[in-house]
Amino acid sequence: MDRFVIILAAGQGTRMKSKLYKVLHPVCGKSMVNHVVSAAEELQPEKIITIVGFGAEKVQAELGDRVTYVLQEQQLGTGHAVLQTKSLLEGQTGTTVVLSGDAPLLTAGTIENLFADHQKYQRGATILTALAENPTGYGRIVRDEAGAVEKIVEQKDADEKIAAIHEVNTGTYCFDNELLFEALKEINTENAQGEYYLTDIIEILKKQNKAVGAMVMEDFSESMGVNDRLALAEATSVMQRRINNEHMKNGVTMIDPQHTYIDIDVTIGSDTVIEGGVTLKGQTKIGADCLITTGSALENAMIEDGVVVRSSAIEDSIVRKNADVGPFAHLRPQSDIGEHVHIGNFVEVKKSTVDTGTKIGHLTYVGDATLGKNINIGCGTIFVNYDGKNKHHTNVGDNVFIGCNANLVAPLSIGENAFIAAGSTITKDVPAAAMAIARSRQENKLDYAKKLPYQQ
Ligand code: UD1
Ligand code: MG
Repeated sequence: MDRFVIILAAGQGTRMKSKLYKVLHPVCGKSMVNHVVSAAEELQPEKIITIVGFGAEKVQAELGDRVTYVLQEQQLGTGHAVLQTKSLLEGQTGTTVVLSGDAPLLTAGTIENLFADHQKYQRGATILTALAENPTGYGRIVRDEAGAVEKIVEQKDADEKIAAIHEVNTGTYCFDNELLFEALKEINTENAQGEYYLTDIIEILKKQNKAVGAMVMEDFSESMGVNDRLALAEATSVMQRRINNEHMKNGVTMIDPQHTYIDIDVTIGSDTVIEGGVTLKGQTKIGADCLITTGSALENAMIEDGVVVRSSAIEDSIVRKNADVGPFAHLRPQSDIGEHVHIGNFVEVKKSTVDTGTKIGHLTYVGDATLGKNINIGCGTIFVNYDGKNKHHTNVGDNVFIGCNANLVAPLSIGENAFIAAGSTITKDVPAAAMAIARSRQENKLDYAKKLPYQQ
């Protein structure tokens, strides 16, 4: 039996009070609609159709060619949205599952169960429902005395008795495709919101003596529809728990998983320890046997095995095996930190390569540089890379020793085994094995201190 998926994502989402279109709000590093498309893809349907309206170009930029787009120019309701797929789907034999672009927590497993239930009872429509502690805002499932589903009534159309019902519509349905398009001809806007409700299909099918039913899901949190920022935060915390649990099952130790923020695409190797208050974003990949301590914030970082990152920020950079970073270091984009490199406290590195075994222990800025192996960079060293207009490059050869508080004015090249005296401002290339010293000489004026005011 062919499967079709329709994802409703054309509404503006006024309740979000945002410039950003609702379904593009991220939940753990991925937009809501992208989460829904990922779940839909797992079902391997014939077609995934996304209904777009507000911010259509932005949704298309986000999802690319993973789905077919149908434009709903005016947002006249969820039923009207589904009707826009008529030219693509009407009359085809198969099952159509309708999903909401604002329900990012729904899993493919649950939709599969819904399919199975729908198939088993050969229904015209099967609604995925949930028992909500607080049903406010959701459509209520009205059942007859025998417990059979009769209709869905929206919050705004509900009387007191119906409003008291706790079984809610999650906004996910399976339909017999042919019956769906037949029934859509009959929906109207006679309701409190003046919209074409998709939910009216249930009552229409029922009147046509078609079988309708509901599958109650066990985990209410999965069904959450995000309409405002409160629900967005709640959905994020549910998703975060899910992600963190998965990492722990895979052998990652988390000291405080409630306060560890990991985006959905992040990977972490086994026996790595992640402390609380850590944020891992984007396409970050962390190897095995690493330690990432409190306050670290990594975005698109590639961390190899055995690395220690203490309370540091790393963006778009690589840290190779057994290196250590921090505390309080900042690796800015395009930094490549070699194996066994030590990056100490208050060190900033930008767009630089640091080869194996080099040590940059304290209070240093390295920008636009290529550093060889086993270099020692003294405390307070500055790579002077910017002349106010252009950035310039510095090369430092293997085994160079740079004394404390040196300024290395780029463009500059320092040969292997060279030695830079502390406090030097280096403006000219230094040959291999040379010692460079560039500072004024010290003079000791004997007994002069006695004349100074503080000793009077
Ligand atoms: C809808 C359901 C409600 C259910 C709830 C679950 C209807 C009438 N109500 O209400 O029973 O409990 O979802 O979260 O269906 N959309 C369009 N075009 C439109 C209108 C909406 O594409 O013209 C999209 C929205 O972008 C959204 C989805 O459909 O992704 C649901 O719309 P929303 O306005 O959030 O409906 P709810 O009030 O949440
Ligand atoms: Mg909604």
